[in-house]
Amino acid sequence: MINYRKGLTDRPEYDVVERAWKIKVNANECNMNLPPLVEERVMARLSHIAFNRYPNEEEDLLKENIAKCFALNKKNVLIGGGSSEIIEKLFYAFGGEGKKIVYPTPSFSMYRIYAYAAEAVGVPAPLNEEYTFDADKFIETVNGEKANLAVLCNPNNPTGGAVDIDIIEKIAQNIDCPFLVDEAYMEFYGKSAATLLKKYPKLLIARTFSKAYGLAAARVGYLLGDEKIISEVKKAYMPYSMNVLSLVTADVVYQMKSEYEPRIAMMIAERKRIAAELAKIGGVKVYPSETNFLLIRVGEGDALNDALVRHNIGVRSFGNAKNLENCLRISVGLREENDEVLNTIKLFFEGRD
Ligand SMILES: Cc1ncc(COP(=O)(O)O)c(C=O)c1O
Repeated sequence: MINYRKGLTDRPEYDVVERAWKIKVNANECNMNLPPLVEERVMARLSHIAFNRYPNEEEDLLKENIAKCFALNKKNVLIGGGSSEIIEKLFYAFGGEGKKIVYPTPSFSMYRIYAYAAEAVGVPAPLNEEYTFDADKFIETVNGEKANLAVLCNPNNPTGGAVDIDIIEKIAQNIDCPFLVDEAYMEFYGKSAATLLKKYPKLLIARTFSKAYGLAAARVGYLLGDEKIISEVKKAYMPYSMNVLSLVTADVVYQMKSEYEPRIAMMIAERKRIAAELAKIGGVKVYPSETNFLLIRVGEGDALNDALVRHNIGVRSFGNAKNLENCLRISVGLREENDEVLNTIKLFFEGRD
């Protein structure tokens, strides 16, 4: 007999439909590989790795470099296998039987799954009808539920909207539990709650190298927060959980962050251009976005998705998911890719596809 852990068989698989898309704009990735100068330095660093040693030094170095940027100490930094692992471990650290974790909905779909995995009670706090965020309602839910952890994704995936840092401060002032701000898309927004870290010791910031820095394959993210919380959450990790290849690559990328500024600016400009073009198409509602993707709502989401699939374009279609009915999320790709996506959507609405 095979007996799995309670709840595991009911747990949904991560539901991304993948294939070798001609245009892949379904996962909010960066559609460009490393900038050539960064690649050169990454390769040079990789050639000096001591493969026989556990990667203590490399992890410390990356932590120190990140900490410096925020005028923090390396003890305020935790590195993880993507921000996914960090969020999962945080949910584990503050979860457990009966413990409540509040997060907005719709938001990053994994929050619900991590809460479940941590045997915690996930409490979704609904966004307003137009996907705007009501801080008072959120605070009320966190306090009313006596939550053990509150989570806000800013800017939010999959809706794209962002809240100002003073709203985050208001939440931090008015709740008592640890408060995670997931800033996976911060670089496209430009405003970070990291400035509040010293003032609010229960505030935690999760960041990733997967989006703006195009390192999704390396799986590196980091958490910023109070030294004591970081050291407790660290206990949820196995020793040497990060591999040296990813640590070294992320370190080079982090030190060469300025190389990414032009492409981040380009992605933002492209997002604005596509949003304006999509808004001109009758039948398409475009939600405001501060990220590298756009959420749109149409009359028949499945039909539009089918048309895109026929053209070998992969977007994230939400089908009839609650509160995201007929919505599609489209990441910003290269200019030519964006043109082709736009054209396909236009043809669909003109009835020519
Ligand atoms: C809001 C949000 N947080 C976290 C993640 C996890 O990213 P990663 O594990 O690649 O750092 C994602 C990925 O899509 C995301 O959208």
